[in-house]
Amino acid sequence: MNPLTDELSASSMLHSPFQLAGLTLRSRLVRAGTSETMATESGEVTAQLIELHRRLAAGGVAMSILGHAYVHRRGQYLERQTGIHDDTLIPGLRRLTDTVHAAGGIIVAQLAHAGSQTRVASVAPLAPSPVPNALVGNLTAEADESEIDEALDAFAAAAHRAKIAGFDGVHLHGANGYLISEFSSPIANIRNDRWGGDAERRSRFFTELLSRVRGAVGPDFPVTAKVGMIDAVEGGLQLAESIERVGALASAGLDAVETSVGVMTKGSDSCRTYVNVDRARARKDLLVHRLFSDGSPEAYFAPWASAVKRAYPTLPVILVGGLRTTETMERVLADGTCDLVALARPFIREPELARRLLVRVDASHAELPAECTSCNLCLMHEGQHSLQCWRTPKWRLAHHALVRLSGKVRSSG
Ligand SMILES: Cc1cc2nc3c(=O)[nH]c(=O)nc-3n(C[C@H](O)[C@H](O)[C@H](O)COP(=O)(O)O)c2cc1C
Ligand code: SF4
Repeated sequence: MNPLTDELSASSMLHSPFQLAGLTLRSRLVRAGTSETMATESGEVTAQLIELHRRLAAGGVAMSILGHAYVHRRGQYLERQTGIHDDTLIPGLRRLTDTVHAAGGIIVAQLAHAGSQTRVASVAPLAPSPVPNALVGNLTAEADESEIDEALDAFAAAAHRAKIAGFDGVHLHGANGYLISEFSSPIANIRNDRWGGDAERRSRFFTELLSRVRGAVGPDFPVTAKVGMIDAVEGGLQLAESIERVGALASAGLDAVETSVGVMTKGSDSCRTYVNVDRARARKDLLVHRLFSDGSPEAYFAPWASAVKRAYPTLPVILVGGLRTTETMERVLADGTCDLVALARPFIREPELARRLLVRVDASHAELPAECTSCNLCLMHEGQHSLQCWRTPKWRLAHHALVRLSGKVRSSG
């Protein structure tokens, strides 16, 4: 018995269990999908990927969302991304889910197709329209009916594989400028046929995809989605259209929504920098850039999550984006902004963070926020080096500087 932690649990929303489409989550704390760069060149699960997810589960995360896994060879975003496009990958995925379950966790597979946003030179990109991709610049011919059909079927087949491999659900990646996000966007999708031309037709790819996924996994298997609510480009997707789209998805059987940005021009559109980092903290983490710029506020996507919640009060909402302190997490849960809070970068720096946040106090009884300073160095190395924090231990900063000098990492934006 620990009177202090017992008292905290009794008064805490963060500690309270949550029912999500038949799954019992032990708390409200979710690990957001964070691409691990830990698969083999052909997308197979490795011992390193399994160990990361074991640590997350053992550390107390209620539900882990696997970093986006590509459902089709043409949908690969980066090298060493996890694949779920072929049956031969199932045994590795099964070892991953078995390990997470043995550690007391829940894990869902995030299913993705990079669309025209692929950064893999050997991949032939796919796009709704011949519009240069806002993030990576690829210019791709308009997808024809058979290519669209193949991509939709690939999501359904991948969802079926996820179920066979023991995942507890699937999370569709409908945000951040990837294929679903492109079909949903008036700036990336300039078609004038049944797949584009107005808001309803721009919704068809996502709703048809959901219906095929549902057909593949059955009515009781949890199917959730990350949805891009607003594009970070002028003339792009607006909130009112996304709210309608979420309603259509919910009516078609979507079990929960995680709100994020749609088409992006830079990585920091989804991963905002220096969240909750004041100058003293910046000095401690050697964050020279932050000393000359402002940090982002916590919970920066909260207005979009609130808008979904207001429109569809019974649809579970997952809030991601800059959650760093238990005070803010408790507030967004208590004021009805969301039902679950998801963190990405803080779990890179501290895979066992959930335990610390749920206990909420250190030995001196002071609450400590997540240590991640949202510098995005980890994002710059995505696809090059396995997911890790480049600021701790401190010598990694020197390694980063050397790799940067060699020109082998991209700008995080
Ligand atoms: C290195 C890295 C990889 C990411 N990979 C994914 C991914 O696979 N799927 C996804 O939906 N979002 C991905 N994201 C975005 C995160 O899920 C999250 O939305 C974003 O980082 C904001 O949350 P945070 O402030 O807690 O980091 C990634 C972010 C980072 C930094
Ligand atoms: S490199 Fe470390 S401190 Fe910087 S965003 Fe990534 S996890 Fe956070």
